[in-house]
Amino acid sequence: MGSTFPYAVLLLVIRSVFSDDISDDRPCAPLQFDQDSVVCVCNATYCDSIAGSDGIPPPVNPIMYFSSWTSSRDGQRLNYTMGSFGKFQPNKYVYTAGNETFQTILGFGGAFTDAATITMNSLSKNTRNNLLNSYFSSTGIGYTVGRVPMASCDFSKQIYSYDDTDGDLSLDKFSLTEEDIIFKIPAIKDAMSVSPRNLSLFGSPWSAPAWMKTNNNMTGKGTLKGSPGGSYFKAWAQYFVKFIQAYKDHGIDIWGITAQNEPSDGMITNFPFQCMGWTPEMQRDFIASDLGPALEAAGLGHVKLMILDDDRVWLPYWAEVVLKEPASAKYVAGIAVHWYEDLFVPTSALDLTYKQFGDKYFLLNTEACEQDLVNKDRSVLLGNWYRGERYFRDILEDLAHGVSGWVDWNLALDRTGGPNWQNNLADSPVIVDAEKDEFYKQPMFYAMAHFSKFVKPGSRILSYTKNFTEDNDVEAIFYTSSEQFGVSVGANFINTNVNESVSITIKDPSNYGMISFDLPPKSFVTFAWWRA
Ligand SMILES: *[C@@H]1O[C@H](CO)[C@@H](O)[C@H](O)[C@H]1NC(C)=O
Ligand SMILES: *[C@@H]1O[C@H](CO)[C@@H](O)[C@H](O)[C@H]1NC(C)=O
Ligand SMILES: *[C@@H]1O[C@H](CO)[C@@H](O)[C@H](O)[C@H]1NC(C)=O
Ligand SMILES: *[C@@H]1O[C@H](CO)[C@@H](O)[C@H](O)[C@H]1NC(C)=O
Ligand SMILES: *[C@@H]1O[C@H](CO)[C@@H](O)[C@H](O)[C@H]1NC(C)=O
Ligand SMILES: *[C@@H]1O[C@H](CO)[C@@H](O)[C@H](O)[C@H]1NC(C)=O
Ligand SMILES: *[C@@H]1O[C@H](CO)[C@@H](O)[C@H](O)[C@H]1NC(C)=O
Repeated sequence: MGSTFPYAVLLLVIRSVFSDDISDDRPCAPLQFDQDSVVCVCNATYCDSIAGSDGIPPPVNPIMYFSSWTSSRDGQRLNYTMGSFGKFQPNKYVYTAGNETFQTILGFGGAFTDAATITMNSLSKNTRNNLLNSYFSSTGIGYTVGRVPMASCDFSKQIYSYDDTDGDLSLDKFSLTEEDIIFKIPAIKDAMSVSPRNLSLFGSPWSAPAWMKTNNNMTGKGTLKGSPGGSYFKAWAQYFVKFIQAYKDHGIDIWGITAQNEPSDGMITNFPFQCMGWTPEMQRDFIASDLGPALEAAGLGHVKLMILDDDRVWLPYWAEVVLKEPASAKYVAGIAVHWYEDLFVPTSALDLTYKQFGDKYFLLNTEACEQDLVNKDRSVLLGNWYRGERYFRDILEDLAHGVSGWVDWNLALDRTGGPNWQNNLADSPVIVDAEKDEFYKQPMFYAMAHFSKFVKPGSRILSYTKNFTEDNDVEAIFYTSSEQFGVSVGANFINTNVNESVSITIKDPSNYGMISFDLPPKSFVTFAWWRA
């Protein structure tokens, strides 16, 4: 490419032209606790931000420049650099961007649980605003999806439903609770108001009211009384309709629902928190005879109905039972999966499901949190890099196997990993210290950021090739989208090597030159460029 001098000058010119885009970036205010990496501290007056291009490199000469953002265990957090395409550097790790596109991205997000929103309200107004901005605004990481528990779950302070009046099959006494009115709805509305895009909000029930269930209890093993088509099943279908209408009355459009959170939990004797048991056959018949028709009759046929909402171990069987039956399949939009057994269940479960149903039904990861089955460590580990890596790798793996988006569990928790009435504590990408009126953005937050900030709704997963055999230390995914200025391509890389940086080369046959880059040890790196 000749002398580097003109390019350096051009780079400076371009950076100044687009300086508005990046000038309001605020760096991480790092703080190290007892873990291997830092958290970024935010308070009422300060919070790190990432402004500008919404994940797309500035529309300069598309052939010459690429953007990169790096986060690393040694303290980088979405550090931005602009680089120029260069000559081919002989290299072991060569990746070539393809042009075959796969599933379309729905988005990334987290859950507005009672615990998350109670925790947010323990902060001053300005600090809470910084928290919501961090996730949802254009200077934050651009979440576009939110999960809303329908009444209580374990991450609540108490057990309740929206209608605890025994025998009220007509649901005359249905009403939202203080948890919705004081905590969840205000948080959702504030998130909506700072988000540049519409949020895709979906409801999930943990349990029907105790009186509707065989065990008269919102916890433990139990199912709905009677059978599909019966009065309890009809009432339970109306409960979904009333939930959606009640949120609408508060100015919130519910985009989707899952038919049941973790239906397998309610089949387990003495299951310790809110749950309700379903077999795939029961869910199929409930959707066909009760839930689907109730939504349509209420003018809510557009609400995206998701099945399963449980670990991938149930796939593809669960999807086959519900989606091979036209009477239930016609009401369904997607298949929701949780991450909890991903270490033990191969991705072929997703592949087999995507192959059979991916053309008509999306796959969405609807829950994940660090409470891992391997280490059994439920505590908050402030600044733990490995937990960030676990998020990043699971998202990458899901996207490489047909999944259209990834929704985290609690958006925020307190220093103990709660509140949770059952003490089923967990870690969260954002941990709040109410006494200090500050919150901590963990490595998991930045793992989410590399996807939610850059892999925008409507992007497509893109094929790529690499000229070396499987290397578990470096993994990558490529994606593309058509924007105002043409086609942009992005790639997310993870290097899990403890001490070694890894030199990679990215070729895009449509472009002139190549990207050469050293992935730092223990890092996440996003690249973006325009396709000529
Ligand atoms: C990354 O960004 C942080 C915050 O701006 C800064 O302190 C640090 O020096 C940067 N690291 C590198 C390697 O550029
Ligand atoms: C808020 O954070 C900023 C940046 O770390 C710091 O300078 C400031 O003192 C903090 N404010 C309070 C009240 O702690
Ligand atoms: C995709 O890439 C292949 C191989 O580089 C090329 O032959 C083909 O024309 C490309 N297709 C499109 C639609 O660009
Ligand atoms: C956003 O939501 C509003 C209100 O429901 C709707 O009119 C609009 O079309 C939506 N915009 C997009 C881009 O979906
Ligand atoms: C519900 O079940 C739990 C045990 O799972 C028990 O402790 C509790 O008393 C039961 N509640 C009612 C109202 O029966
Ligand atoms: C990958 O490509 C580079 C450059 O052509 C080459 O030096 C290297 O040997 C290749 N690696 C493998 C495993 O083929
Ligand atoms: C990484 O470097 C440290 C410090 O030099 C060393 O103690 C450790 O053994 C190295 N780890 C690996 C996996 O190479």
